[in-house]
Amino acid sequence: MRTAVVAVVMVMLCVMMVHADVKPQRDFNLQRFAGKWYRVGLAYDSPGFVPYRDKLKASMGIITLLPNGNVNLTMWDATPMGCQSKLYQYEKTSVPGQFTYFSTRHNMVKDITVVDTNYTEYAVVLKHKVFNREYTQLALYGRSQRIRNDVINKFKAIALSQGFPRESILTPPPAENCPPSGSGR
Ligand SMILES: *[C@@H]1O[C@H](CO)[C@@H](O)[C@H](O)[C@H]1NC(C)=O
Ligand SMILES: *[C@@H]1O[C@H](CO)[C@@H](O)[C@H](O)[C@H]1NC(C)=O
Repeated sequence: MRTAVVAVVMVMLCVMMVHADVKPQRDFNLQRFAGKWYRVGLAYDSPGFVPYRDKLKASMGIITLLPNGNVNLTMWDATPMGCQSKLYQYEKTSVPGQFTYFSTRHNMVKDITVVDTNYTEYAVVLKHKVFNREYTQLALYGRSQRIRNDVINKFKAIALSQGFPRESILTPPPAENCPPSGSGR
């Protein structure tokens, strides 16, 4: 009982740490952010995800702007069932660089913050944790599948400063033939 209480308090402290001082990229420019990205880094501390860490591949995503200022994100994931594409619809908020989306998988609204990007090379994107239901993810997106070491080190430093344990920070290898050549690429 007592250990359960301690665990809950620790989880709450982590939630608060992760939420602390997360600001979007200054002067965020959605138009420049659109287009093709590869998810070349991921920090994800969910215990349920641990068995999949070694199998993770660098997914490709395409961000499309909608006339109303919202965004469609299509991601291709290499899964044991093959290459699967998924559509996420991000809704803009009053803060540029911050979006919300409704997760059908978890049946709840989540929020997305573009923490840091230089548009032409990399972007660091935070998906917020919801207490007791899901864990925060911090992702590094690159315009190409290979990304410079100093960018990866910067991503690792941000992840550690956000309270992610070192072993939860991954830099997966490129996905092979996902999306299948000819579609999307
Ligand atoms: C965005 O996604 C919605 C829902 O699937 C789709 O109807 C719409 O055509 C998409 N828009 C663009 C520009 O891709
Ligand atoms: C931003 O991207 C360009 C490549 O387009 C790169 O030369 C530059 O070093 C990047 N800046 C930072 C701070 O990483």
